[in-house]
Amino acid sequence: MIKGFSKINKVGGTLKLPGDKSISHRSVMFAALAEGKSEIFNCLQSEDVQSTIDAFRKMGCKIEITEEKIIVEGKGINGLQKPKENLYLGNSGTTTRLLSGILSAQQFPTKLSGDASLSSRDMTRIIIPLTQMGADIKSKNGLLPIEINPVEKLKPIEYELPIASAQIKSCVLLAGLFNDEETVVIEKKKSRNHTEKMLNLKIEEGENSRKVYSSKKNFPQAQVYHVPSDISTAAFFIILTLLLKDSELILPNISLNETRIGILDILEKMGGNFSIQNQSILNGEKRGDIVVRSSELKNVEIPSEIIPNIIDEIPILAIAGIFAEGDFVIRNARELRHKESDRIKSVCKNAKLIGVDFEEFEDGFRLFGKLNNEKVIFDSYDDHRIAMSFAILSSVIEQGGTINNFDCVNISNPEFSSQLKQICN
Ligand code: S3P
Repeated sequence: MIKGFSKINKVGGTLKLPGDKSISHRSVMFAALAEGKSEIFNCLQSEDVQSTIDAFRKMGCKIEITEEKIIVEGKGINGLQKPKENLYLGNSGTTTRLLSGILSAQQFPTKLSGDASLSSRDMTRIIIPLTQMGADIKSKNGLLPIEINPVEKLKPIEYELPIASAQIKSCVLLAGLFNDEETVVIEKKKSRNHTEKMLNLKIEEGENSRKVYSSKKNFPQAQVYHVPSDISTAAFFIILTLLLKDSELILPNISLNETRIGILDILEKMGGNFSIQNQSILNGEKRGDIVVRSSELKNVEIPSEIIPNIIDEIPILAIAGIFAEGDFVIRNARELRHKESDRIKSVCKNAKLIGVDFEEFEDGFRLFGKLNNEKVIFDSYDDHRIAMSFAILSSVIEQGGTINNFDCVNISNPEFSSQLKQICN
């Protein structure tokens, strides 16, 4: 689907956003593994989370979706069943990587496949540590489809992450849940910590690294989950509000997990005017209401340590950067090339269409120069965050803009367009 966006004059009101994608995936997975009934409130209902739900349904787990909540009849540590067909995981990297950890410990074989984008994403990053644990995984060139065959028992390992990645970290820690002895993951740069928080894992904070431990004693129990709204989704609306004149928007109950709020730190340094109200902690996850107002932004230096914390928000941050004073520069962000699209290329090519110059680096890019006033068609590169970033850009420029293959927003936020309509006034 091709979708046009015209200039919005201002936004206002209160916008309730869907649940955090990372926490929703984990809630479904942990509820399915636990013995007995769990309920998940404010779970994101999008294509990616549906991939997780479908996979567990195929392994015998009963999952009921109502308007208010998701009810999961968990199967317990030995309860998952051999699926009758392959597990097709669509576009979802998080499902694939986290699930592979769980499946490596099962007493039945599984075959995982995905769409074209997921099938081009590197799986050696999880195959290497899982194989060290004794898992039997077959793949061609480290890409999907992969086959995971049963082994008698996985071994606990100590694994230092070669890249800051919550997906790799979680994959190994979830495989570790099936062992009495502790599996240890060492990370030098802190990535999102939802798995640790939700499973109450032991953590040792060192001077230059942290160690996270998992074993059978952390195996999830049935419970009620309250998923906070997604800060990565909120980022699009925060930046839209900052860029428009005479605007104020309230975004309630947004995840404020310390490993996810780097975007707010950077926007504050850029001169963004927002405040946080009504903070609370539920299921170990901090949340609160974000009130955002129109602002004048300037570009700032983005430190390398913050990159894992803002990795999903870099495309929309780049849009803020285009309108901010000075050049927008991002470095040390090689991981952008391994997302749903090569986000360095996707951002630079789309920005160029509208006259913005770019310098591409292996690990980032620089955007500079002025926008022109041509009406262009941006490409989503079938990447939900690229589609929404350029929809926001189109909504703040006089001539508006159009996005090709906009349907991919269903991966993380099927309601994006109606939410945008709701806050326009
Ligand atoms: C995620 C981790 C991140 C992020 C992805 C979700 C997660 O990926 O980009 O959207 O839920 O663990 P990496 O851990 O590979 O950086």
